[in-house]
Amino acid sequence: MTENTPRIAVVTGANRGLGRATARALAQRGFAVVLTYRGDADEASRVVEEIRAAGGDAIAARLDLADVASFADFTVSLRRDIDERWGRPGIDVLVNNAGIGLFGRLEDATVDEFDALIGTNVRGTFFLIQALAPHIGAGGGIINVSTSLTRHVSPGTSLYAASKKAVEAITRALAVELGPRGIRINSIAPGPTATDFNGGAMRDDPELRSSLAAHTALGRVGRPDEIADAIAALASSELRWLTAERVEVSGGTLL
Ligand SMILES: NC(=O)c1ccc[n+]([C@@H]2O[C@H](COP(=O)([O-])OP(=O)(O)OC[C@H]3O[C@@H](n4cnc5c(N)ncnc54)[C@H](OP(=O)(O)O)[C@@H]3O)[C@@H](O)[C@H]2O)c1
Repeated sequence: MTENTPRIAVVTGANRGLGRATARALAQRGFAVVLTYRGDADEASRVVEEIRAAGGDAIAARLDLADVASFADFTVSLRRDIDERWGRPGIDVLVNNAGIGLFGRLEDATVDEFDALIGTNVRGTFFLIQALAPHIGAGGGIINVSTSLTRHVSPGTSLYAASKKAVEAITRALAVELGPRGIRINSIAPGPTATDFNGGAMRDDPELRSSLAAHTALGRVGRPDEIADAIAALASSELRWLTAERVEVSGGTLL
């Protein structure tokens, strides 16, 4: 490794939404970024091109969080790809952003929805950390994306909130396992943010947007870059003494 070797960040689900904004924010701060995508390789390539056009560096890698059996092969090819491009196989930052939201009231919830939420948001996130943590060096960090819905409640959110509350519990418990290796782990809890999430409701439904805005201290829903900048701040050495925390970035939603 030379002094020119960049810090390397892996951001899951970075072909769109908060992950894409996070990949861009980290690249702007000098990280070399591996952005993962599940299905749309063209979308991922466009994000890679955007980052390179802005003077940063990135590559894309396919990853399905629901397919835990693929994580061993994913890890091997990830290490090979980053070694080829940046001259070392280790990573510095892992952002577990990829996730799904399924919302419905108690009487409508199905076992398939339960399994999908837990399978992707909890099982996938946990075992990806298990696969990649051995390759994160001292001074590195993990940031798990949760939600403000683990603090405030509304009808139809029980399973989604439970899946993210589990992520927060995993975060705190792993802080004491990873801390001795000099690895920090925190969760970030975005409030409602305008992306494709939940069918694009927070971006495209004016009624929902204005009702959320009325219950938010800063008076509107969030933008992806605002969450991404907070994730980049958590990844920076400025916050090197912060671990095991849940940081909410919601503009003061439903206080
Ligand atoms: N937007 C909000 O208001 C909000 C608020 C709080 C928390 N969050 C959380 O923030 C994270 C990102 O949300 P977003 O708003 O950017 O949502 P989004 O626009 O729906 O993007 C979700 C991302 O996760 C990926 N993903 C979903 N399932 C996956 C799987 N099985 N394997 C790999 N990738 C998978 C998607 O890939 P595909 O493109 O292949 O589907 C996509 O890249 C999620 O964890 C979400 O729960 C969002």
